Amino acid sequence: MSNKKVCVVGAGGFIGSHLCEHLLIKDYQVTGVDLSDLRLSGILEHPNFNWQTMDYSLGENPQILAQNHPVVINAAALCNPSLYNTQDLQVMHSNFNAPQKLANECAETGTWLIHFSTSEIYGYGDATQALHESTPSNLGSVGARRWSYATAKLLLERWLVGLEKERNLAWTVIRPFNILGPRMDYIPGVDGQGTPRVMANFSSALLKGQALPIVDGGKAQRAFTWVGDAVKAVELILKNPSSSKNQAFNIGNPANEISMIALAQQMVEIYRKIQSQNPHLAPVAKPALRHVKGTEYYGPGYEDSIRRLPDISKAQKLLSWQPQTDLLTTLYGCLEWFTQHYGNLVCK
Ligand SMILES: NC(=O)c1ccc[n+]([C@@H]2O[C@H](COP(=O)([O-])OP(=O)(O)OC[C@H]3O[C@@H](n4cnc5c(N)ncnc54)[C@H](O)[C@@H]3O)[C@@H](O)[C@H]2O)c1
Repeated sequence: MSNKKVCVVGAGGFIGSHLCEHLLIKDYQVTGVDLSDLRLSGILEHPNFNWQTMDYSLGENPQILAQNHPVVINAAALCNPSLYNTQDLQVMHSNFNAPQKLANECAETGTWLIHFSTSEIYGYGDATQALHESTPSNLGSVGARRWSYATAKLLLERWLVGLEKERNLAWTVIRPFNILGPRMDYIPGVDGQGTPRVMANFSSALLKGQALPIVDGGKAQRAFTWVGDAVKAVELILKNPSSSKNQAFNIGNPANEISMIALAQQMVEIYRKIQSQNPHLAPVAKPALRHVKGTEYYGPGYEDSIRRLPDISKAQKLLSWQPQTDLLTTLYGCLEWFTQHYGNLVCK
């Protein structure tokens, strides 16, 4: 079987759906597996796409997926920060127990497992410098429940290394740094409940004419990456197995670093421009921003790293990968999609 036949687990998610779309354009044969196909319109119909509605972790499913594909890419997870300190057990099950079963089966069948981990495994990180793949993890205390997700992801990475050494698994780990794009998350009250990740959260407030919630002064800095750049990295991993097997890669765009408060301000400005040409959209609230405490907004046990800047020199060197999309283009691309997709669904 060739590397052009891949299984994408979590294909119905934000990154998974973009990855399937990209791989199909590049002539891959893709089996897509997820609990839901709601984000896959236009993809389901592709002749090289084989869709299966499935909980990949149940029963014989991990074995069947590993047996039938030379490469499995796992982008399935519960990965919404509002769950980390409220549904810790489900989050840890989803990010350790479930992928552990799939990894064990991949070791058994000789399947190459490309696994989506997270930049959160670096923990608090180091605010003074970029995070390299060799930077040690610095996770918060057990009492700070918010680290449940990162702890489970990190343990799974260690499990993959153990499987490589003891059972010959071929693995690749992707550590995404804040990927953005269309189809990310949901708008609360329209197609989901609770607090989505920052792009959907700010977009939701804008579409509802509400002030954007700024957590703990909005001082935290993140480097945002256009989803099209991220899925290109996965294509390069597939094309370069000898450079990418048994390696972890930071996938992020250090040029797009910004604080949360500056992100909110930029999104307000972009939305104002879009709204001026689309008067059916709600106008920006006055004041446009409101300040909230993290422990009140996300609940007790919430904390976060102040800065998460990727060092991507390893992916640049081994994969010749270079993110191309600047922050303004990324934010426009997201807000244009959110306003077109949800603009008529959200009441002023
Ligand atoms: N988007 C980011 O910026 C980012 C950052 C760091 C890490 N990641 C990681 O990248 C991966 C993809 O993230 P995303 O943003 O696309 O998330 P997402 O929530 O949009 O997609 C995850 C998908 O996994 C599916 N899923 C969960 N459990 C499943 C199961 N048991 N069986 C079948 N499907 C299941 C969900 O239905 C969902 O469609 C995740 O592993 C996430 O932890 C993403």
